[in-house]
Formats: sequence, structure tokens, C-alpha cells
Amino acid sequence: MPAKTAPSLKSVDELTPREARAEHEALGREIAEHDQRYYEEDAPTISDAEYDALRKRYEALEGLFPELKTSESLTQKVGAKASEKFAKIRHRMPMLSLANAFADEEVKEFVERIRRFLQWKADKPLVFTAEPKIDGLSLSIRYEKGKLVTAATRGDGAEGEDVTANARTVDDIPHVLKGSNPPDVFEVRGEVYLSHKDFAAINERQEAAGKPVFANPRNAAAGSLRQLDPKITASRPLCFFAYAWGEVSAMPADTQHGMMDVLKHFGFKVNPLTRRCSSVAEMLEHYHAIETDRANLGYDIDGVVYKVDDLNLQQRLGFVSRSPRWALAHKFPAQKAVTVLEGIEINVGRTGSLNPIARLRPVTVGGVVVSNATLHNEDYIKGIGGNGEKIRDGVDIRIGDTVIIHRAGDVIPKVLDVVLEKRPAGAKPYEFPTQCPACGSHAVREVNPRTGKEDAVRRCTGGLICPAQARERLKHFVSRNAFDIEGMGEQRIDEFYEEGLVQRPQDIFTLAERNARSLKRLENREGWGETSVRNLFAAIEARRSIALNRFIFALGIPHIGETSARLLARHFGSFEALREAAKAAADPESEAHAELTAIGGIGPVVAEAVVEFFKEEHNEEMLDALLAQVNVESMEAPARVNSPVAGKTVVFTGSLEQMTREEAKAMAERLGAKVAGSVSKKTDIVVAGPGAGSKLAKAAELGVQVMDEDGWFALVGRA
Ligand code: IVH
Repeated sequence: MPAKTAPSLKSVDELTPREARAEHEALGREIAEHDQRYYEEDAPTISDAEYDALRKRYEALEGLFPELKTSESLTQKVGAKASEKFAKIRHRMPMLSLANAFADEEVKEFVERIRRFLQWKADKPLVFTAEPKIDGLSLSIRYEKGKLVTAATRGDGAEGEDVTANARTVDDIPHVLKGSNPPDVFEVRGEVYLSHKDFAAINERQEAAGKPVFANPRNAAAGSLRQLDPKITASRPLCFFAYAWGEVSAMPADTQHGMMDVLKHFGFKVNPLTRRCSSVAEMLEHYHAIETDRANLGYDIDGVVYKVDDLNLQQRLGFVSRSPRWALAHKFPAQKAVTVLEGIEINVGRTGSLNPIARLRPVTVGGVVVSNATLHNEDYIKGIGGNGEKIRDGVDIRIGDTVIIHRAGDVIPKVLDVVLEKRPAGAKPYEFPTQCPACGSHAVREVNPRTGKEDAVRRCTGGLICPAQARERLKHFVSRNAFDIEGMGEQRIDEFYEEGLVQRPQDIFTLAERNARSLKRLENREGWGETSVRNLFAAIEARRSIALNRFIFALGIPHIGETSARLLARHFGSFEALREAAKAAADPESEAHAELTAIGGIGPVVAEAVVEFFKEEHNEEMLDALLAQVNVESMEAPARVNSPVAGKTVVFTGSLEQMTREEAKAMAERLGAKVAGSVSKKTDIVVAGPGAGSKLAKAAELGVQVMDEDGWFALVGRA
């Protein structure tokens, strides 16, 4: 999925303050979603490089418009909130992040910045350490009197998850510090990671058990460490490199490299590629040496970290927002490789999208063998971009072409370019199918009525009769962030679907009952046994009650990701309320429609998708059948905020002069108010700017309190 906000924007210094504020807010939301996917769900959807680009733009906006840097800003926070599954541990010293650099030039600037800060001349010796940046997840392990007492993930930097029992199963983590006289309190920090070999073995086991495979070693390491059952963690050979510390009662060394020696002495592994460097040239030399060796390391790294060696200087340099001034992560560029496109296959997605997949001659990119890559859509293959513009100079992609593929960290590799000189004679332009390969129905590109533009995605019109869509919907329904039914992997769904055992979501919950009466009972089949059947049915039973946001997400409504599902759940509180509102919202003039589109974070596309979904009779039938089987838990109303507008319904109208519409909405919601798009009996306050018309008249008619922007700020303060 490409970054939504970063490309094709004006440069930051061309923006008006109002545009900057709007973009800062939109970017902030987008980054927060990616943070959630990365930190909480271990399932990122964009590459690290794309994420870094978003973050860079966000920081650039704050650089030029410092008023945007409030305590709410993401630059003031690290990572994501700790997940709800584990107990929390508050870090006595915050776990911070590192500033990133990509170009050699930025390393030079980093060193110059430090010299300027210290007021040191260019010839005064300044030593750095340079070491690989391990692509795993950070862990803080606390030792008291030499004994391991707790271990916590980073979480949001202030508070992490208590994974002590799991950390104890990691071989590289000593339970008791070795050597003599450890300090009374010693918090060791470092990275938990998996080797390529162990990662491959884990995925093989996952696949064999019908469970989802991990996208990369980092996700697998995170998934393994954040297991509620330490036995599972123990079965996954996690490794650990120590590279930093938190609270220490008496510092045993006064340099970074000295501390690394101490850590080694206490029984930790420290990275053998750590060097001391006394110039930018040496730092870059070591960076490039590590980069060259990267594919042979046997574990993932994504850059090199430089740190000022002298700990007194580290102290003096201190921090800038979420990262130390004395350290820098110099990231590797995304990786590319050249191979041959042997075929194009079409996968049919859960919403009927025909997704072209490149079948490649296998090639190693950064230590990972790649044989599939995404081709995005029909236009992408033709050399046409999202706005009708030419990409790759308009060169199309043909079977037999030599292509450049790109794999950035964790996401699905993509076909980037064609080496035209190597195109075989007789290679023909690819003809994108106009029929669904799974059900033969027409596949069409719809025209968006709002923009008049043809959708980039061609979709199968088979709907319910398309087996590929039905299977994908089921897979989505049982997936980890939806119903999360253990033992219902993709292969199992395929198997059950083909046999007609499970074809609709509700069938899952009647499976046990039907099996008991069946002549072909699961437990008597090859590859099954009493235990696996019992476990499967137990896993299904365990999901008869489900959180509202998961339920909404599981329905697989187009455009409803986890974030929108959560927003809808929070807003409506119960499934009945959502269903009723969505049905009423079928009338675009209705109050319900205005309410739906006014929910912060829910755009018109999502609102439309919700309305469409509940309009369909077959969805209604499915829901009735499903709700007869499962209990959807209601969500508590959001915590009451103590503000003069908490619980009130506010409408903003006319042109606002002191804040953008988005900002006004966000502010009101932060203060516990509900923002609506139209004035009704339920409206408590109308904030009207110049040019307000019919809504103002309606407010007068209904006797609703009306105020201008100044009145609003007088009421709520300049929060
Ligand atoms: S030092 C105060 N050294 O990178 C900064 N971090 O982007 C302490 N990481 O959260 C971190 N390898 O999870 C440091 N050799 C290394 C590292 C490293 C990987 C991770 C760590 C940190 C993240 C920051």
C-alpha cells in the first residue's frame, strides 16, 4: 500500500499555516495508524522507508510551523501504546527512539551539530561507536542484586508490556548476571530478534499447522515474545543483543564501548561488528562495510547506529523530543534486485478485486528469497499511474521481461521497472482479464460517481456466487485481528469451503453441531485427530462473544480497516445502534447520514461503504444468522471528559477563521463533545462563522444556543 500523504505535495515552505495545520493533522492520523499496525499488531502495511518519509514530512512541518508541536504531537511520543493483553510496566527511564538519516551527508551534519552544541572545534577529537541497527524489537530487562526481576517491551516508551516470563525463555538473556559485583539495580536494554534460519523454520511450522505465516523475522520475533503462553515463546529460538541500559544504580564504565564490555562480562551478547570511529570518514567506511556484509549476517539489520562514546558527553548532549542528540540511526536504502517475470497470476480478493501477482524467477533480495511480487493493478502494468500520468516513461510490463524488483523491509515486494533492452523479441502486451478467473463473471472497472474517474481496480461482479470472494471473506473473518480463530488457517478454510462445510461466516458456529451428526466426522479423517478437532471447536466456542470493533472489522465491509471499525464501535457503542443508524443513513438527507459522516476519522468513502453494506438484503440475512450464534459485546461510551461541552452535540457552520473545520472538530471531540453535520433537536450548540446560512436559521427556529468562534473559545478556553 503506497503512502497516502507524502508524495506529490507542495514543499513545506510553500504551505500556508492553515494548510500546514491540516496536513499535520492528517499525517498525524496516518502515522498513528501505521504505528498501531507496526507496534500493536505486528503487521505493518508500508515499508520502513515509506514510514520514515511520512515521519520526515511531519517533522519538517513542525520545523517550519513550531506552533504545531504541542504535547499531542507524535514527535513527543514514542512507538505505540502497550497492548491490552499483558500487564504494564512503567519504565523508570523512558525508552526512546533514534533520529534517522539516509544520506552520508546527514551523518556529517549530525557530527557538526554535536560539535556546535558542545562548542568544539573541528580538530578536537570526538569518538563515536558504530554498530548494526538490529531489526527486531527492543526489550528492557531489570536486574536487582544481579537477578532478573522484570522484562518489558518498549510500548509507548513510557510504559511497556510485562513479558518477564517470556524473556526468561530466551537463551541469550541470563537469569543471573555473571561476573563479580553487579550494581544493585541494572537495567539492560537491547534487541530481541530471530535469525533467518529460525524464522524460516517457524513459518514452516505455522504453515503446516494452518496458521498465518509471519511476514518477516521482526514480526515473528514480536509475535513470539508477545505470546501469552511462555511455552510458545520457549519453542521459538529468540536471540538478544544488548546495546543500551536504563536505570543503573552505579555506572560501571564511562564510555559506550566500556559499557559494552561490561555487558559482555555480565553474560550478554553484544554485536561483534561494533567499532570505535574518530571521524565521519571512518563512520561511513564502517557503515558501507556493514552494508556489504549485510546479506551474510544471518539476521536482519536495517542500518547502522552511531553513538557518542563518552558518556559524560552523552549526558551533556541530552535529548531532543523523542530521541537522543548523541545518537543517529543511519538507515540502509530499500533493496532492489533484477530478475525475470515468468508469469502473471490473478488473485481474487475479498471485495472481488482482481489483483495481479508477478511470478518471478526466484532471486535473493537482502537475504530473502523472493518469487512473487505485486503488480498493483491493470494500469500499473500498462505504465499508467494513479492520476492517469505516465510511470516508467509509459513502459508496460510484459511476461518474459527482465524486471527490477524492490523490497523495502517488511512489505510485499513490488515490480518497480523494466529493463527494456532485455525485452525478448515477440513479447506481447499483457491482456488483463475482463472475466473473473474464479467464477467467470464479468470483471469491471467502476466509475466513481463523485469524481467521474474509472477505478484503478477491476472487480469481479459475481458477488455471492464467486467462490474466491467468499473464501477470502471467510479468511478475513477468522483472521487474527477479526475473530481470531486458532486452527482456522487459510488452508483449512479452503478445505472446508470446497467440501461445503463452511461457506458463510455463520456456518463456523454450527460446525461442531453438524459434525456430531455427520457420517464423515472430522475426527475420522486423515490428518485430524480427536485433539485437533476438540481444539478447533474450543477455539470457535471461545469466540462466541466478541468485541464490537473486531466484529465490525470481521464483516469485511470494503474500506473498513481496523481503525475505522474502532471509530465506528466507539461512536455507536453497540452493533444494534450502528445497524440502525446505517440503515437510516441510506437517505442522504437524513440526520443519521449527517451523523455518520461527521464522525471524526470517518470519511465519505467509508460512510458510503457502511450504508451500502447494510442496504444489501443478503448481508442482513447473514447478520441475523450470525447474531443468533454470537454475542457482540457493547462498548462503553468514551470516558467522560470534564469540560463544559462534554456530552453535548455541536455543529460548526459558516467559515471559521481561527481554526480549520478539521481542527474545530478534533478539538470538540477531544473535549468530549459530539460533532454533527446538521442542526436538529439534539443539537446543543451551533458555532457559526461568517456566511452561515440555513443551519443558523434552523438553530434560531429550534432555539439552539448559537455562538461565534470567540464565544466558543471563551467557553472552552484555548485548549
Ligand atoms: S540505541 C536511546 N542501538 O532502534 C536510544 N537501538 O529506532 C537507544 N535498535 O528503539 C537505542 N539496534 O529498538 C540502539 N544497536 C542499536 C540498535 C537499536 C536496533 C532499535 C531499538 C530502538 C530503535 C530506534
